[in-house]
Amino acid sequence: MPIKIARCGYALCLTGGLLFNPVALANLPPVIDPIADQVVSAGNAVEIVVVPRDPERVVPGLTISNMPNGASFLDNRNGTRTFRWVPTSNDVGSRLVTFEAIDASDSNLRSTVSVTVTVNAVGQPEQPNNNGNQAPIIEPLSDVLVQVGEAVSIRVVPVDPEGVVPALSINTLPTGASFDDNRDGTRQFRWQPNDQQVGDTTLSFAAYDENEPSLRTVETVKITVSGSAPVDPGNPQTPNTPNQDQLMVEGAPFFVDLQDQFITLGDTLSLRVVAKDDDGSVPGLAIDRLPERANFSDNGDGTRTFRWQPYPIDLGDTYVEFTTIDANNPASRTSKTIRLNVVRDPNRVVNFPPVINGIRNPTIRAGDTLTQRVQPVDPDFTVPNLSALNIPQGSQLVDNGDGTRNLNWLTDANDIGDTQASFRAVDAVDSSLSFESTITVSVVDPSTFNRDGERLRDLADRRGFKIGYAAVLQASNLADSQLYRDIAAEEFNIVTPENSHKMSWIQPQRGVFKWDDADDVANYAEQNGMTLHGHPLVWFRQLPPWVQLLDPSIAQQVMREHIRALVQRYRGRVAIWDVVNESFEDDGTYRNSIWHKGMGKGYIRDAFITANQEDPNAILIYNDYDVAWKNPKSDAMYNMVQEEIAAGTPIDGVGFQMHLRDDFSEYESVERNFERFANLGLDIYITEFDVAMFGGKNDELQAEIYRRVLEICLRQPRCKALQSWGYTDRYSWRSNFQPLMLTDKYLPKPAYYEWQRVLRDF
Ligand code: XIL
Repeated sequence: MPIKIARCGYALCLTGGLLFNPVALANLPPVIDPIADQVVSAGNAVEIVVVPRDPERVVPGLTISNMPNGASFLDNRNGTRTFRWVPTSNDVGSRLVTFEAIDASDSNLRSTVSVTVTVNAVGQPEQPNNNGNQAPIIEPLSDVLVQVGEAVSIRVVPVDPEGVVPALSINTLPTGASFDDNRDGTRQFRWQPNDQQVGDTTLSFAAYDENEPSLRTVETVKITVSGSAPVDPGNPQTPNTPNQDQLMVEGAPFFVDLQDQFITLGDTLSLRVVAKDDDGSVPGLAIDRLPERANFSDNGDGTRTFRWQPYPIDLGDTYVEFTTIDANNPASRTSKTIRLNVVRDPNRVVNFPPVINGIRNPTIRAGDTLTQRVQPVDPDFTVPNLSALNIPQGSQLVDNGDGTRNLNWLTDANDIGDTQASFRAVDAVDSSLSFESTITVSVVDPSTFNRDGERLRDLADRRGFKIGYAAVLQASNLADSQLYRDIAAEEFNIVTPENSHKMSWIQPQRGVFKWDDADDVANYAEQNGMTLHGHPLVWFRQLPPWVQLLDPSIAQQVMREHIRALVQRYRGRVAIWDVVNESFEDDGTYRNSIWHKGMGKGYIRDAFITANQEDPNAILIYNDYDVAWKNPKSDAMYNMVQEEIAAGTPIDGVGFQMHLRDDFSEYESVERNFERFANLGLDIYITEFDVAMFGGKNDELQAEIYRRVLEICLRQPRCKALQSWGYTDRYSWRSNFQPLMLTDKYLPKPAYYEWQRVLRDF
């Protein structure tokens, strides 16, 4: 069955194919629940429980900076830590303490929350500086299109400014649907509509404060169920069930004795899943929402076994959905959702060994310095001790002071070959528990990376064209940073920071800007004569928690402050800004972002005017995805920019993201679409090009898509730049689908040579 949508929202993922794992697409950064500022009198204790959450449910690391003298930041062994401090009269005044959550598998993914702790002299009143209790909010949800028989699963994520977990309710539950507690503060709406349920169903989810139920926010979602039932029309659908809780379909296979499970922490569940079909054939078995570290293996006798050892983060409920599929008619299937309830036995000491996550075998050039970061984590939330077992001669293991260490190694020609480095993480509580991890560092002759022909940027320069890439966050911290940065500088004359301009990264607290990483890219671009493309000033994603909780009435002020700060800092350095990103839904309606809530569609004009005031020379563009060809969304964008031009808004061009897949074929439409925007007098930028190989590796097919898009761009005089979203599959946001022009070992693919040839000859 084809996958119906290519994009998964942070909160919602709709799967047409049961075996499609949305998590494989992108690892999302952890977030920290909002924390209110604190006011305390000297001599009294201030205590803050810091709660990090990761969308992938792996336990993030937590660190603190600016910890006051005498304070502690202790592990609560449940994924949280408590900051505790009893200030003295010497501490009177205010200070900012910052907490940072670090993704367990990708240390580049982080988020911070800063808290102002104000210490008053004894006798001064303790006056909290927040203004009362605020209503919780629900993370934005998108409408859903689904066919009869397909499963809808919506995660509803409420957030409360005060950090308490809000209650959640639903206005009405369609027959057969459920709204389960995920036990992590969120709930899951699940529904597999039948053919009696064709049409639109509108659901309203309300988040409210249990102590003050009038403080509530409602988020509405429309689910459109379209027809074509997966049932034989000759067979009327009559429930005929031995087992009431299975959605039984006449003639479809069914599960035998599949029940909810209780698991004690420390045990491993081994659950044999058996399904039968009345016609005697052996039905297929599939699972959706396979938990982290679980597997579902074939027993070779028509059954499968689900095995899972839960960790402390799994305490509470997890739900998995099993589906059995008719061997002769795959449309005929039955699904059942099982609750896995994980409990702790108070009389049993359970301690899991630590692990070392997320290190991959690096390849570097002889002469380069390896800078490999190693982060040990423990499922029990203790901090393991990390040491080196054997590391290359001349290398050093350096403590980074945040629970991680770096293996640094300056290599030379004598080091060419594969060398192993091993690390050991020892459990902080029980030293008999440890984990060892070995990486192979390949030091290769620098000539390995030679690419035939001329460099893309030289060919592009000659035609007055820009060819570019998006630079990974903190590129200078990569194990192979020298190679990564050198190849990029050789090949490209324009660069976009992939994440370091994003609001969650650069303005984690209101008015607190973290410039280091953006400065780093700006310096790199200058040192290498590259044009710097800023991205994005105004977007609905990757917003810091404080903006997600913003009162819409101050959205305009916050948006302007943010634009001014960034455009001012990089005035004359960022040549092109993506001023507004992704304002439209697929159907062409305006997305209900915080900016739209606060200002209506006028926020777009306001953003361009504000950016132009700060840097009249910067090129200002509007950027969006799935708008390169003609469709309701690109029509809406066309109408919008036309209106803005008529109103005199300082808009110079349009950015077309072009995150494509291997089945792409809309070339004609792209060409005509570019024409109509060019005819408005706008410049065209292809800003985030990549081609995900969903159908498997096929370098020639990929190269053809690369070639044809570049040709369209070069045929259009107003098309000024083509930038791919990264350049090596090793560091792509869709790396599982190898969408970029160099392999994960930095070797050129046919796509690279096609771009070279077209830039040279076309
Ligand atoms: C992506 C980045 O590549 C990822 O590293 C990050 O985790 C999420 O965002 N449209 C955009 C880009 O405008 O900013 C997005 O980048 C990809 C989709």
